[in-house]
Amino acid sequence: MTNELLELKKQALLEIESSNSLPEVEEIRVKYLSKKGSISLMMGKLRDLSPEERPKFGAEVNTAKEKIGNALYVKKTELENIELLQLLANEKIDVTLPGYQFYQGSIHPLHQVIEDLEDLFIGMGYDVAEGPELENDHYNFEMMNLAKDHPARGMQDSFYTDENTLLRTHTSPVQARTMLEKVGKPLRIICPGKVYRRDDDDPTHSHQFTQIEGLVVDENITFANLKDALLKMVRHLFGEDRVIRLRPSYFPFTEPSVEVDVSYVKKDGTLGYIEILGAGRVHPNVLAMGGYDPKKFQGFAFGIGVERIAILKYNIDDIRHFYTNDLRFLGQFKGVNR
Ligand code: DAH
Repeated sequence: MTNELLELKKQALLEIESSNSLPEVEEIRVKYLSKKGSISLMMGKLRDLSPEERPKFGAEVNTAKEKIGNALYVKKTELENIELLQLLANEKIDVTLPGYQFYQGSIHPLHQVIEDLEDLFIGMGYDVAEGPELENDHYNFEMMNLAKDHPARGMQDSFYTDENTLLRTHTSPVQARTMLEKVGKPLRIICPGKVYRRDDDDPTHSHQFTQIEGLVVDENITFANLKDALLKMVRHLFGEDRVIRLRPSYFPFTEPSVEVDVSYVKKDGTLGYIEILGAGRVHPNVLAMGGYDPKKFQGFAFGIGVERIAILKYNIDDIRHFYTNDLRFLGQFKGVNR
């Protein structure tokens, strides 16, 4: 091997040995082995040699190339491994760090009451109906037997968006909508939903609250059917030992109308009653406007305040807790009903 080739080879191997980055290794490769690299250029020297010397020299150049190529490969792999190890070291997961905390949500207490009553009434053959929260004056009042000048409209101070449209003040308009939809066929529905009335919010008042409407229309429906449905509901909600008390009342859409109280045992051991809902036999005018012949069909209806039920069931002291989304409040109702 010529001295020059030996020197070059030695030099290249030394450089490879002392290199410590991948770009450096690449630079060395270019310097010695690329087309214009110094080892490749050695091939040009073949021309100056005698034909006898050429094969030997050629072989020597190739061996030098191979040696340098191998050394480059070994170095490159070594550096790549170091890089990978460093990367792994940097990205090492510290399993002792605290993990992310996931909070499991829960069903809102008002919705727990709604779902609970939906289950009960579906089991008794009722359908669950829905109606719009932005309602026509026509359905909210007129179809419920509250004409434009009816004094009872004053009991439900309302949010109007224009002359004929308001945020519904009760879920009763769904009675009218359902009757028209069923075109004279017997029906049993409950309708849960939000309702709105102008009110100053305080611990017992809210401008938005929740009701569940109930309506049954069929032939041969009596007040006894209403009492039966209400008693079943009250006992389902509060326990089998409860009784109900009906007091005469007035609603324009029912006749006769009652206010329904549920019994409870007072601290001194005597029986007390708390009002929980309004109900009655569907007024003939409401039946007729809904397309039912009042001579043939009768019905009963009721309207429950969902907040009131939840407040009694869970002993809640301020209605505003239901709407302010404080997780300390809401978290207490995890799995209460299921
Ligand atoms: N709509 C009444 C209210 O919001 C509640 C009510 C009373 C509904 C009697 C009824 C009923 O269906 O029969 O004050």
